[in-house]
Amino acid sequence: MNALTLLDRPTDQIRTARLSLRPIREDDAARVYELFGQWGVIRTLRSAPWPYRFSDAQQFCRERARHVEGGAITFAITHKGELIGVIDAVSNPAVQRGPGYTLGYWVGRPYWNKGFVSEAARAFIAHLFAATGTGTIYSGVFALNASSLRVQEKLGFARAEEEMLYSRPHDAELPFVNTMLTREAFEAAARRRQERDPLELQQSPLIPAKAGIQGPRLRPKNWVPASAGTSGTES
Ligand SMILES: CC(C)(COP(=O)(O)OP(=O)(O)OC[C@H]1O[C@@H](n2cnc3c(N)ncnc32)[C@H](O)[C@@H]1OP(=O)(O)O)[C@@H](O)C(=O)NCCC(=O)NCCS
Repeated sequence: MNALTLLDRPTDQIRTARLSLRPIREDDAARVYELFGQWGVIRTLRSAPWPYRFSDAQQFCRERARHVEGGAITFAITHKGELIGVIDAVSNPAVQRGPGYTLGYWVGRPYWNKGFVSEAARAFIAHLFAATGTGTIYSGVFALNASSLRVQEKLGFARAEEEMLYSRPHDAELPFVNTMLTREAFEAAARRRQERDPLELQQSPLIPAKAGIQGPRLRPKNWVPASAGTSGTES
């Protein structure tokens, strides 16, 4: 991977048509607990604790707000100034299928099926590709999670191998689909969307002027992977 990573100053923001993405903060814990600590959200994740306690949210936000160089990149997805979900990229060579980042995300139940994660992920991934030099982003989805599979399909992710994977919230092994996204597939998916809807050209995160990324800071990367925390966005 290129020896660069992106920003995490509290003032850094990624803007989309409806959303603003900013680095997670410690004081997001109450809102994360309110929205994330629900079975409907946690049931499709891999290693989130259940039951979910306020201290889990506090630990997650504290660890992720720390901005460890080369560690997880964790952004709050905000709408009209309110946190509605979280998106992150974690680099963990020990478990990852290749070099690069693993993508995770969630939004609170009241915000499902409004296109928010698709919109946030498009901008976040464009930023990740642009700022880190990584060529591939990994993810994975439990097979029961049709909505997330659809989100990833729209982004250009390809399905890799399937396996049985332990789900901590279910305390059971469940069918899991590993997925991956190359830069080329991401750009091709964006082009297909733009062909279908030329107006989207105005909003595409692939067009830097419209992505509205403010103040990205590229910096040398000489890192040790950070802990991924105990709750979060893992797929
Ligand atoms: C999965 C999740 C992230 C989706 O977020 P979202 O903001 O609702 O996603 P979007 O609205 O951008 O897109 C959802 C897509 O799935 C489709 N969808 C929803 N339910 C579906 C279902 N049961 N079967 C098939 N497609 C479905 C929607 O129609 C939409 O596709 P479209 O744009 O082609 O119509 C959200 O439900 C969530 O946070 N779930 C809990 C945590 C989680 O599962 N995180 C991901 C782990 S991999």
